[in-house]
Amino acid sequence: MVTSSAPGKVYLFGEHAVVYGEPAVPCAIERRASVTATRRDDEALRVDAGDLTLDGFTVEYSGGTDGRPDVDVEQPLLEAAMGYVNEAVEQARDATGRPEAGFDVHIDSAIPLGAGLGSSAAVVVAAIDAATRELGVTLDSEEIADRAYQVEHAVQDGEASRADTFCSAMGGAVRVEGDDCRRLEAVPNLPFVIGYDGGSGDTGALVSGVRGLRAEYDFAADTVEAIGDVVRRGEDALAAADLDELGRLMDFNHGLLSALGVSSRSLDAMVWAARDADARGAKLTGAGGGGCIVALDDTDGTETALRYTPGCEDAFRAELDTEGVRVEE
Ligand code: PMV
Repeated sequence: MVTSSAPGKVYLFGEHAVVYGEPAVPCAIERRASVTATRRDDEALRVDAGDLTLDGFTVEYSGGTDGRPDVDVEQPLLEAAMGYVNEAVEQARDATGRPEAGFDVHIDSAIPLGAGLGSSAAVVVAAIDAATRELGVTLDSEEIADRAYQVEHAVQDGEASRADTFCSAMGGAVRVEGDDCRRLEAVPNLPFVIGYDGGSGDTGALVSGVRGLRAEYDFAADTVEAIGDVVRRGEDALAAADLDELGRLMDFNHGLLSALGVSSRSLDAMVWAARDADARGAKLTGAGGGGCIVALDDTDGTETALRYTPGCEDAFRAELDTEGVRVEE
Protein backbone atom coordinates (compact mmCIF):
# COMPACT_ATOMS: atom_id res chain seq x y z
CA MET A 1 0.00 0.00 0.00
CA VAL A 2 1.42 3.38 -1.02
CA THR A 3 -0.06 6.84 -0.40
CA SER A 4 1.13 9.78 -2.50
CA SER A 5 -0.07 13.36 -2.46
CA ALA A 6 0.13 16.27 -4.88
CA PRO A 7 -0.79 19.94 -4.55
CA GLY A 8 -3.51 22.00 -6.20
CA LYS A 9 -2.62 25.32 -7.84
CA VAL A 10 -3.68 28.88 -8.46
CA TYR A 11 -2.82 31.01 -11.46
CA LEU A 12 -0.75 33.92 -10.17
CA PHE A 13 -0.97 35.27 -13.74
CA GLY A 14 -1.84 34.35 -17.28
CA GLU A 15 -4.86 32.02 -17.61
CA HIS A 16 -6.73 32.26 -20.92
CA ALA A 17 -3.86 34.18 -22.58
CA VAL A 18 -1.76 30.99 -22.20
CA VAL A 19 -4.09 29.35 -24.74
CA TYR A 20 -2.73 31.78 -27.38
CA GLY A 21 0.95 31.22 -26.65
CA GLU A 22 1.44 33.86 -23.95
CA PRO A 23 3.29 32.72 -20.81
CA ALA A 24 1.45 31.92 -17.56
CA VAL A 25 2.63 31.46 -13.98
CA PRO A 26 0.67 28.87 -11.99
CA CYS A 27 1.72 28.28 -8.37
CA ALA A 28 1.26 25.13 -6.28
CA ILE A 29 -0.68 25.69 -3.06
CA GLU A 30 -0.69 23.95 0.31
CA ARG A 31 -3.91 22.08 -0.40
CA ARG A 32 -3.36 18.51 -1.46
CA ALA A 33 -5.06 15.48 -2.92
CA SER A 34 -3.92 12.15 -1.48
CA VAL A 35 -4.26 8.87 -3.32
CA THR A 36 -3.65 5.46 -1.78
CA ALA A 37 -3.03 2.55 -4.17
CA THR A 38 -3.16 -1.02 -2.91
CA ARG A 39 -2.33 -3.89 -5.23
CA ARG A 40 -5.15 -6.40 -5.73
CA ASP A 41 -4.60 -10.02 -6.65
CA ASP A 42 -6.89 -9.65 -9.67
CA GLU A 43 -7.03 -7.13 -12.54
CA ALA A 44 -9.92 -5.04 -11.18
CA LEU A 45 -9.85 -1.38 -10.27
CA ARG A 46 -11.93 -0.22 -7.33
CA VAL A 47 -12.03 3.43 -6.39
CA ASP A 48 -13.52 5.07 -3.37
CA ALA A 49 -13.42 8.74 -2.81
CA GLY A 50 -14.02 10.37 0.53
CA ASP A 51 -14.33 14.08 1.19
CA LEU A 52 -14.03 15.04 -2.45
CA THR A 53 -15.66 18.39 -1.81
CA LEU A 54 -15.34 20.92 0.96
CA ASP A 55 -18.80 19.88 2.12
CA GLY A 56 -17.20 16.61 3.04
CA PHE A 57 -19.77 14.12 1.82
CA THR A 58 -18.49 10.62 1.30
CA VAL A 59 -19.47 8.44 -1.62
CA GLU A 60 -18.22 4.96 -2.34
CA TYR A 61 -17.80 4.13 -5.96
CA SER A 62 -16.92 0.78 -7.45
CA GLY A 63 -15.98 0.21 -11.04
CA GLY A 64 -14.87 -2.72 -13.19
CA THR A 65 -11.60 -2.67 -15.15
CA ASP A 66 -13.40 -1.16 -18.13
CA GLY A 67 -14.26 1.84 -15.99
CA ARG A 68 -17.98 1.15 -16.13
CA PRO A 69 -19.55 1.60 -12.73
CA ASP A 70 -21.19 -1.28 -10.91
CA VAL A 71 -23.34 1.26 -9.12
CA ASP A 72 -25.10 4.42 -10.20
CA VAL A 73 -23.32 7.58 -9.24
CA GLU A 74 -25.57 10.57 -8.89
CA GLN A 75 -22.73 12.99 -8.41
CA PRO A 76 -21.27 13.79 -11.87
CA LEU A 77 -18.07 15.24 -10.44
CA LEU A 78 -17.28 11.97 -8.73
CA GLU A 79 -17.97 10.16 -11.94
CA ALA A 80 -15.49 12.47 -13.63
CA ALA A 81 -12.91 11.65 -10.93
CA MET A 82 -13.36 7.97 -11.75
CA GLY A 83 -12.49 8.68 -15.40
CA TYR A 84 -9.27 10.43 -14.38
CA VAL A 85 -8.25 7.61 -12.02
CA ASN A 86 -8.90 4.97 -14.70
CA GLU A 87 -6.59 6.73 -17.13
CA ALA A 88 -3.99 7.38 -14.43
CA VAL A 89 -3.91 3.66 -13.59
CA GLU A 90 -3.51 2.90 -17.32
CA GLN A 91 -0.45 5.18 -17.34
CA ALA A 92 0.96 3.38 -14.28
CA ARG A 93 0.41 0.00 -15.98
CA ASP A 94 2.14 1.29 -19.12
CA ALA A 95 5.07 2.85 -17.24
CA THR A 96 5.74 -0.37 -15.31
CA GLY A 97 4.99 -2.89 -18.07
CA ARG A 98 2.32 -4.46 -15.86
CA PRO A 99 -0.91 -4.26 -17.90
CA GLU A 100 -2.62 -6.80 -15.63
CA ALA A 101 -2.11 -4.91 -12.35
CA GLY A 102 -5.34 -4.30 -10.40
CA PHE A 103 -5.71 -1.80 -7.55
CA ASP A 104 -7.89 -0.56 -4.78
CA VAL A 105 -7.61 3.22 -4.95
CA HIS A 106 -8.69 5.61 -2.23
CA ILE A 107 -8.85 9.36 -2.86
CA ASP A 108 -8.92 12.11 -0.25
CA SER A 109 -8.84 15.64 -1.53
CA ALA A 110 -8.91 19.00 0.23
CA ILE A 111 -9.15 20.80 -3.13
CA PRO A 112 -12.60 22.00 -4.26
CA LEU A 113 -13.57 20.30 -7.52
CA GLY A 114 -13.79 22.14 -10.82
CA ALA A 115 -13.14 25.51 -9.19
CA GLY A 116 -9.88 26.55 -10.87
CA LEU A 117 -7.60 24.96 -8.26
CA GLY A 118 -6.36 22.02 -10.31
CA SER A 119 -8.12 19.26 -8.35
CA SER A 120 -8.17 16.73 -11.18
CA ALA A 121 -4.49 17.27 -11.99
CA ALA A 122 -3.53 16.73 -8.34
CA VAL A 123 -5.52 13.47 -8.17
CA VAL A 124 -3.99 12.22 -11.44
CA VAL A 125 -0.41 13.10 -10.43
CA ALA A 126 -0.78 11.46 -7.00
CA ALA A 127 -2.49 8.39 -8.50
CA ILE A 128 0.28 7.78 -11.06
CA ASP A 129 2.95 8.13 -8.36
CA ALA A 130 1.17 5.85 -5.86
CA ALA A 131 0.29 3.13 -8.38
CA THR A 132 3.76 2.98 -9.96
CA ARG A 133 5.47 2.90 -6.55
CA GLU A 134 3.08 0.16 -5.42
CA LEU A 135 4.46 -1.85 -8.38
CA GLY A 136 8.03 -1.12 -7.26
CA VAL A 137 8.85 1.58 -9.84
CA THR A 138 9.72 5.21 -9.04
CA LEU A 139 9.18 7.72 -11.84
CA ASP A 140 10.80 11.15 -11.79
CA SER A 141 8.56 14.20 -11.43
CA GLU A 142 8.97 15.23 -15.09
CA GLU A 143 7.74 11.84 -16.30
CA ILE A 144 4.81 11.94 -13.88
CA ALA A 145 3.95 15.45 -15.15
CA ASP A 146 4.05 14.27 -18.76
CA ARG A 147 1.98 11.14 -18.11
CA ALA A 148 -0.53 13.16 -16.08
CA TYR A 149 -0.84 15.59 -18.99
CA GLN A 150 -1.59 12.63 -21.31
CA VAL A 151 -4.38 11.63 -18.89
CA GLU A 152 -5.94 15.12 -18.85
CA HIS A 153 -5.58 15.37 -22.61
CA ALA A 154 -7.42 12.04 -23.08
CA VAL A 155 -10.17 12.65 -20.51
CA GLN A 156 -10.79 16.28 -21.60
CA ASP A 157 -10.90 15.47 -25.35
CA GLY A 158 -7.68 17.30 -26.16
CA GLU A 159 -8.66 20.43 -24.20
CA ALA A 160 -5.86 20.54 -21.65
CA SER A 161 -2.79 22.67 -21.13
CA ARG A 162 0.28 21.34 -19.34
CA ALA A 163 -0.01 24.00 -16.64
CA ASP A 164 -1.99 22.14 -13.95
CA THR A 165 -0.25 18.78 -14.21
CA PHE A 166 3.28 20.24 -14.46
CA CYS A 167 2.67 22.56 -11.51
CA SER A 168 1.19 19.78 -9.36
CA ALA A 169 4.02 17.34 -10.11
CA MET A 170 6.87 19.86 -9.61
CA GLY A 171 5.46 22.18 -6.91
CA GLY A 172 6.47 25.82 -6.46
CA ALA A 173 5.87 28.55 -9.02
CA VAL A 174 6.20 27.42 -12.61
CA ARG A 175 6.26 29.13 -15.98
CA VAL A 176 4.35 27.64 -18.88
CA GLU A 177 4.59 28.84 -22.47
CA GLY A 178 3.23 26.36 -25.00
CA ASP A 179 4.98 23.03 -24.37
CA ASP A 180 7.83 24.78 -22.58
CA CYS A 181 7.37 24.28 -18.82
CA ARG A 182 9.90 25.10 -16.14
CA ARG A 183 10.10 25.76 -12.45
CA LEU A 184 10.89 29.31 -11.33
CA GLU A 185 13.68 29.33 -8.75
CA ALA A 186 14.24 31.74 -5.86
CA VAL A 187 10.56 32.62 -5.49
CA PRO A 188 9.49 34.42 -2.28
CA ASN A 189 6.92 32.99 0.09
CA LEU A 190 3.51 33.90 -1.34
CA PRO A 191 0.75 34.40 1.25
CA PHE A 192 -2.23 33.28 -0.82
CA VAL A 193 -5.78 33.58 0.45
CA ILE A 194 -8.47 31.83 -1.55
CA GLY A 195 -12.17 32.65 -1.77
CA TYR A 196 -14.54 30.02 -3.16
CA ASP A 197 -18.09 30.77 -4.29
CA GLY A 198 -19.09 27.09 -4.17
CA GLY A 199 -19.57 26.94 -7.94
CA SER A 200 -17.57 26.31 -11.06
CA GLY A 201 -17.37 27.73 -14.57
CA ASP A 202 -17.77 25.94 -17.90
CA THR A 203 -14.14 26.01 -19.06
CA GLY A 204 -14.93 25.08 -22.67
CA ALA A 205 -17.57 27.80 -23.06
CA LEU A 206 -15.36 30.42 -21.39
CA VAL A 207 -12.36 29.58 -23.56
CA SER A 208 -14.46 29.73 -26.72
CA GLY A 209 -16.00 33.04 -25.59
CA VAL A 210 -12.53 34.57 -25.38
CA ARG A 211 -11.61 33.01 -28.73
CA GLY A 212 -14.66 34.67 -30.33
CA LEU A 213 -13.91 38.11 -28.85
CA ARG A 214 -10.30 37.86 -29.91
CA ALA A 215 -11.32 37.03 -33.50
CA GLU A 216 -13.88 39.84 -33.65
CA TYR A 217 -12.12 42.74 -31.96
CA ASP A 218 -8.52 43.88 -32.29
CA PHE A 219 -8.76 45.37 -28.82
CA ALA A 220 -9.68 41.93 -27.41
CA ALA A 221 -6.59 40.47 -29.11
CA ASP A 222 -4.63 43.38 -27.61
CA THR A 223 -6.10 42.53 -24.20
CA VAL A 224 -4.80 38.96 -24.50
CA GLU A 225 -1.35 40.32 -25.41
CA ALA A 226 -1.56 42.76 -22.50
CA ILE A 227 -2.06 39.80 -20.16
CA GLY A 228 1.18 38.38 -21.58
CA ASP A 229 2.87 41.71 -20.75
CA VAL A 230 1.51 41.53 -17.18
CA VAL A 231 2.96 38.02 -16.84
CA ARG A 232 6.40 39.15 -18.05
CA ARG A 233 6.40 42.05 -15.54
CA GLY A 234 5.15 39.58 -12.93
CA GLU A 235 8.18 37.37 -13.48
CA ASP A 236 10.44 40.36 -12.73
CA ALA A 237 8.43 41.15 -9.59
CA LEU A 238 8.71 37.51 -8.46
CA ALA A 239 12.47 37.52 -9.00
CA ALA A 240 12.70 40.78 -7.00
CA ALA A 241 10.37 39.39 -4.26
CA ASP A 242 8.30 42.57 -4.66
CA LEU A 243 4.92 41.53 -3.21
CA ASP A 244 3.35 44.99 -3.63
CA GLU A 245 4.13 44.99 -7.34
CA LEU A 246 2.85 41.40 -7.63
CA GLY A 247 -0.43 42.52 -6.05
CA ARG A 248 -0.80 45.48 -8.42
CA LEU A 249 -0.20 43.18 -11.37
CA MET A 250 -2.77 40.66 -10.06
CA ASP A 251 -5.32 43.49 -9.89
CA PHE A 252 -4.47 44.47 -13.45
CA ASN A 253 -4.68 40.86 -14.62
CA HIS A 254 -8.16 40.54 -13.09
CA GLY A 255 -9.31 43.70 -14.87
CA LEU A 256 -8.13 42.34 -18.22
CA LEU A 257 -9.83 38.96 -17.60
CA SER A 258 -12.98 40.82 -16.63
CA ALA A 259 -12.83 42.77 -19.92
CA LEU A 260 -12.67 39.42 -21.71
CA GLY A 261 -15.94 38.43 -20.02
CA VAL A 262 -14.72 35.56 -17.83
CA SER A 263 -15.38 37.04 -14.39
CA SER A 264 -18.72 36.83 -12.59
CA ARG A 265 -20.63 38.79 -9.99
CA SER A 266 -19.49 36.52 -7.13
CA LEU A 267 -15.86 36.49 -8.30
CA ASP A 268 -15.89 40.29 -8.60
CA ALA A 269 -17.50 40.61 -5.15
CA MET A 270 -14.76 38.46 -3.62
CA VAL A 271 -12.01 40.35 -5.47
CA TRP A 272 -13.39 43.67 -4.18
CA ALA A 273 -13.77 42.32 -0.63
CA ALA A 274 -10.08 41.36 -0.73
CA ARG A 275 -9.09 44.80 -2.04
CA ASP A 276 -11.21 46.52 0.62
CA ALA A 277 -9.42 44.40 3.22
CA ASP A 278 -6.11 45.80 1.96
CA ALA A 279 -4.90 42.67 0.25
CA ARG A 280 -1.90 43.46 -1.92
CA GLY A 281 -3.91 42.30 -4.91
CA ALA A 282 -6.60 39.84 -6.00
CA LYS A 283 -7.82 38.11 -9.13
CA LEU A 284 -9.91 35.21 -10.29
CA THR A 285 -7.98 31.98 -10.86
CA GLY A 286 -8.49 29.47 -13.65
CA ALA A 287 -11.16 29.55 -16.29
CA GLY A 288 -13.48 31.90 -14.31
CA GLY A 289 -17.24 32.16 -14.58
CA GLY A 290 -17.41 30.96 -10.95
CA GLY A 291 -15.15 29.08 -8.56
CA CYS A 292 -12.21 30.75 -6.87
CA ILE A 293 -10.33 33.98 -6.50
CA VAL A 294 -6.81 34.29 -5.15
CA ALA A 295 -5.59 37.23 -3.10
CA LEU A 296 -2.16 38.05 -1.75
CA ASP A 297 -2.35 39.03 1.92
CA ASP A 298 -0.01 38.29 4.81
CA THR A 299 -2.56 39.47 7.41
CA ASP A 300 -5.84 37.79 8.44
CA GLY A 301 -7.83 40.68 6.92
CA THR A 302 -8.80 39.14 3.58
CA GLU A 303 -9.81 35.76 4.97
CA THR A 304 -12.05 37.44 7.55
CA ALA A 305 -13.56 39.84 5.00
CA LEU A 306 -14.27 37.00 2.56
CA ARG A 307 -16.14 35.06 5.26
CA TYR A 308 -18.64 37.96 5.41
CA THR A 309 -18.88 38.45 1.65
CA PRO A 310 -22.22 37.43 0.11
CA GLY A 311 -21.60 34.71 -2.44
CA CYS A 312 -18.41 33.48 -0.77
CA GLU A 313 -18.92 29.95 0.52
CA ASP A 314 -15.48 29.29 1.91
CA ALA A 315 -12.25 31.19 2.46
CA PHE A 316 -8.92 29.76 3.41
CA ARG A 317 -5.23 30.48 3.45
CA ALA A 318 -3.07 28.26 1.24
CA GLU A 319 0.50 29.40 0.91
CA LEU A 320 2.82 28.54 -1.95
CA ASP A 321 3.76 24.86 -1.71
CA THR A 322 7.32 24.34 -2.86
CA GLU A 323 6.91 20.57 -2.84
CA GLY A 324 5.25 18.75 -5.70
CA VAL A 325 4.22 15.11 -5.68
CA ARG A 326 5.48 13.19 -2.65
CA VAL A 327 5.03 9.91 -0.81
CA GLU A 328 3.14 10.14 2.47
CA GLU A 329 4.59 7.93 5.19
O1 PMV B 1 -9.89 26.32 -14.52
P1 PMV B 1 -8.57 25.67 -14.78
O2 PMV B 1 -7.68 25.61 -13.57
O3 PMV B 1 -8.68 24.35 -15.49
O4 PMV B 1 -7.76 26.63 -15.78
C1 PMV B 1 -8.17 26.89 -17.09
C2 PMV B 1 -7.10 27.75 -17.70
C3 PMV B 1 -7.37 28.22 -19.11
O5 PMV B 1 -6.26 29.03 -19.47
C4 PMV B 1 -8.62 29.07 -19.18
C5 PMV B 1 -7.50 27.07 -20.10
C6 PMV B 1 -6.22 26.28 -20.28
O6 PMV B 1 -6.34 25.09 -20.66
O7 PMV B 1 -5.13 26.81 -20.12
